[in-house]
Parts: sequence; C-alpha cells; structure tokens
Amino acid sequence: MDILDSVDRTKLPKHIAIIMDGNGRWAKERGQDRVYGHHEGVISVREVVNNCGELGIQYLTLYAFSAENWNRPKAEVDALMELLVNTIRKEAEELKKNNVRMHVIGDFQSLPAICQKELTEAIEMTASNTGLNLILALSYSSRQEIINAAKKIATGIAGGTIEAANINESTFAQYLDTANFPDPELMIRTSGEYRISNYLLYQLAYAELYFTDVHWPEFRKQHLYEALVNYQQRERRFGKTSEQIQTNTAQHA
Ligand code: FPP
Repeated sequence: MDILDSVDRTKLPKHIAIIMDGNGRWAKERGQDRVYGHHEGVISVREVVNNCGELGIQYLTLYAFSAENWNRPKAEVDALMELLVNTIRKEAEELKKNNVRMHVIGDFQSLPAICQKELTEAIEMTASNTGLNLILALSYSSRQEIINAAKKIATGIAGGTIEAANINESTFAQYLDTANFPDPELMIRTSGEYRISNYLLYQLAYAELYFTDVHWPEFRKQHLYEALVNYQQRERRFGKTSEQIQTNTAQHA
C-alpha cells in the first residue's frame, strides 16, 4: 500500500514538533553556500504546513532559530533573519487564506525590529483563524523558557499571588511560552542527528521521537507521512504496562 494511504486519519497527533536540521549540510553536499540550504528549507516548511493543515493536525511547532544560533557567523544569522522576514511577508496572506494561525515562542524581543514587525503583523492577521496553529520557535531556548517560568512563579510566591503548594505539572506549564498549546505527541528531527538540542524539554516528556536521515530541504509529504505511520505503530504507555494499555483500549473499543 502507498504510504499516503497508510496513515490512519483517526489516530493523528494533535501536535507535531519538528527540528528542521541539515540545511547547511545539504547545501554543502551540492557545492553551495549554507544559506542556499535555508532558502530551499522554506519549500519544505510550506509543504509541511500545507499537509498538516490538510490532515487536520491542530498544532505544528517548527524550530526555526535557536537561542544558540545567534553564535553562528554574522552573515548566516543576517541571511536567516532576512529570509524569515521575506518569507513571512510573502506567505502571510496565504496563511490567512488557508485558515492557519501563527504564533511565536522564544525571546521575541531579541529579534531584529523588522522581524518583530512582520511577525506581529502575521500573528494579528491570522488571529481569528481556526485551522492549524503554526508555532515558530525563534531565538528559543527551552532551558531559558523553564528558568523564566521559575522566575515568574518565584515572583508570584514572593508577592503572595501564588501558593507554592498549588504548583503542579499543569500549573507550571501555564508559565511556559507554550501555555496555550497541548504538549506535542510527536517530535521529528531530520538529518540523522539524535538530539533534542534545548527544544521543548518540558513539553516533550511523553512525546514519541522520530529521527530520519533526510535533510530538511528534502523533507516532503512522503516523509511526513512516514513519520506519522511510524508514530501510529507505537504503543504509548505513559509508564503503564502494555497489558494495562491493551485492556483499556479493549474496554473503550
Ligand atoms: C538547521 O539546519 C536549520 C536552521 C538553523 C534554520 C531553519 C530555517 C529554515 C528552514 C528557513 C526559515 C524558516 C521559516 C519558518 C520561514 P543547519 O543549518 O543547522 O544544518 P546543518 O546541521 O547541516 O549545518
């Protein structure tokens, strides 16, 4: 059976998170500058956004720029910021038309002013959309996000607005950048690296992790579907036994 027919549309994850890796290597393998890889990576972004939207996936988080990425050569950072601005400017209308709602997580204030402006416009323009929520992680560090949450909670406790005894896993999550989104059930990383790289460390606690050797600029519908089929073949136990899960499934069938 074709992979495109193998996805069970009744068992899709609500939220997919992706680490789009391998742009630089893909370009180098072709004798091109790394930036060429980032440009081609935008084609994959469009493909994945469109297909997630069509499938009815509710949340898609893309790791577009990590806090650590600021340490790359200035020319590459500048090119990435310019690409981001141009892409958002070009695609915002299309996102609006396709019922995609855009969000950003990460250190928004650290982005160049022009980036902040384009992103703010796209966020506002798509705010009433009800389809796919596209969340861009920009200047994002999960450790920093957790530290920020801890600081907000500490301030709340000191000011008497938060009771320490009332902090639990779900209340803590309300202080993260992702407060309004469910945790991802599936995390995809391209390009053959087996790391999480400071990405959604709290939120990925129970996610299924899927790694593929495909470089991001080559990632297409077919590869998204392969990841989904693989996800659907896994048994998500959340610490329980396989027998408990099967009994529970039989009872609810
Ligand atoms: C990782 O590949 C990729 C990035 C740091 C940037 C990702 C950006 C895009 C795909 C384009 C812009 C995105 C949007 C949402 C408009 P790498 O450079 O680390 O590759 P390497 O590991 O081969 O060096």
